[in-house]
Amino acid sequence: MSRIAGRLWDRLAQEALAARRAAYAPYSRFKVGAALLTDDGTIIRGCNVENASFGLCLCAERNAIGTAVTMGYRSFQALAIATPSSPPGPPCGMCLQTLAEHCSDLDLLLVNPAGERQRTKLRRLLPHAFCGKGVRPPAHLL
Ligand code: THU
Repeated sequence: MSRIAGRLWDRLAQEALAARRAAYAPYSRFKVGAALLTDDGTIIRGCNVENASFGLCLCAERNAIGTAVTMGYRSFQALAIATPSSPPGPPCGMCLQTLAEHCSDLDLLLVNPAGERQRTKLRRLLPHAFCGKGVRPPAHLL
């Protein structure tokens, strides 16, 4: 069960949809908004920011995490993501891995401008996130 009340989910959905309006997506026209809820109840927005060099496109979710970490936040409760797709789209693999670095699990709400909604969890979408454990292997595995 989520600790988050229905009204707070509504607020997060609105914030993610509002964040979408700031998206810079002239190449794909796929505007994405994210609203990240920190442990102290602050909501931090992110939008996608594209580049003519397509590989440099920054997703809305990673933009929100970057802003939050810059502001000093390290623990998060939930994330709402607004995409122009039906059903509302999940975060890409790179964003899932980025989110997993900062939250062992996170409640997710996927929404679109038509009002469709889907709740899920980070752990459900990425059950086997890469974690730092393998980065410094024990001597017998070198
Ligand atoms: N995008 C996101 O912002 N988040 C995702 O999780 C997937 C994709 C953006 C990147 C690009 O600007 C556009 O959507 C199309 O891929």
